[in-house]
Amino acid sequence: MLSGKKIALGLSGSIAAYKGAELARLLIKAGAEVQCIMTAGACEFISPLTMRTLTERPVMQSMFEEPKQWNVEHIAVSRWADLFLIAPATANVIGKIAHGIADDLLTAAVMAATVPVVVAPAMNSAMFENAAVQENMDRLRSRGYHFVAPGVGQLACGDTGKGRLADLEHILKISEYAMRKDRPLRGQKVLITAGPTREPLDPVRYLTNHSSGKMGYALAEAAWQLGADVTLVSGPVELKPLPFYRTIQVTTAEEMAAAVLEEAASAQLVVKAAAVADYTPAETKTQKIKKQQEDFQILCRRTPDILGILGSRKRTGQVLVGFAAETEDLLAHAAEKLQRKHADLIVANDVTMEGSGFGSDTNIVTLLFADGSRRSLPQMSKEAVAEEILQAAVRLLR
Ligand code: CTP
Repeated sequence: MLSGKKIALGLSGSIAAYKGAELARLLIKAGAEVQCIMTAGACEFISPLTMRTLTERPVMQSMFEEPKQWNVEHIAVSRWADLFLIAPATANVIGKIAHGIADDLLTAAVMAATVPVVVAPAMNSAMFENAAVQENMDRLRSRGYHFVAPGVGQLACGDTGKGRLADLEHILKISEYAMRKDRPLRGQKVLITAGPTREPLDPVRYLTNHSSGKMGYALAEAAWQLGADVTLVSGPVELKPLPFYRTIQVTTAEEMAAAVLEEAASAQLVVKAAAVADYTPAETKTQKIKKQQEDFQILCRRTPDILGILGSRKRTGQVLVGFAAETEDLLAHAAEKLQRKHADLIVANDVTMEGSGFGSDTNIVTLLFADGSRRSLPQMSKEAVAEEILQAAVRLLR
């Protein structure tokens, strides 16, 4: 999404201005072109030379300096950019933009911008909570400005609270979000499941599988990017969910079933990427099992087939997407699951293939639709596969 995009990056006078350097580097690494604009305050905290070197462009600082080429600089940059990103944004800059004050190059350029504007505030927590700042942000939000909520933690002044510049990763995600032109899932509630489940044998052991959660997390992010109100039900994984959707953490298949069945009642689209354990130990010992005989048998019982239950209760208009991770007869097994679980779409992948399945960053899938049609996708990143699945689901929802 950021590749080839032109980003006007405004830095204002917060101690977090130093993070602007890393932010510029990340944007450039993602393929964006960055034109930095610094306020006088920002130049007190970080040298324009740093930003010029990282962005390979002269930094714009003053309305009245001799321009590098003939143009009206604050207008030219606003025409050039696909996105305006102000990070860090001080209370002062937010206040000025909210009230139509354009007394320096950054605020004048933002006023002339007709592209999406993303603002990442950074300031002391008392300043951030101040009614004036909150009202200014509300005012800008109502005009379509996008905000990246600051994080909670230790602030430069020694206080602990809300006010530190948001994670740079979150700033990048909101920037992508702001530049998206279409949000076909706007107003739709989408439920995604991800990861494995863990079925406990005793306090120290469990049965599980190799699911990493990457596919489900990519789906949750893509659904949010497409405008959906997303709930992610996640089994235990190493991944960190984004704060832009709701996450319910579960451990066992039973817990996943309870969360999913409750949430699915109000969801228009359910995508079941989780690798749910089919069996759970019939009994979970309260104390650690001690070794005794040479052989050890575990009696297991079936877990609820969550997708199967959803399929049997499907409401008109609701779309159900399941996964079939197989090691043999991929399409036959997937087609059988599509029918048996009354799904609208099954995403089939052969987990034994290189570049596909558990833990991999890429996937090779075939989409099987309830009308009998099929679409095989080449090897793609899990993010790209997620986008394809959701675009297919959008067509089904229509
Ligand atoms: N699934 C589910 N609940 C279960 C098992 C699976 O909701 N207890 C869902 C998965 O999330 C996936 C789809 O059903 O979307 C297919 O999962 P899979 O394990 O491949 O299917 P099973 O029905 O378990 O079939 P089998 O074990 O025979 O391959």
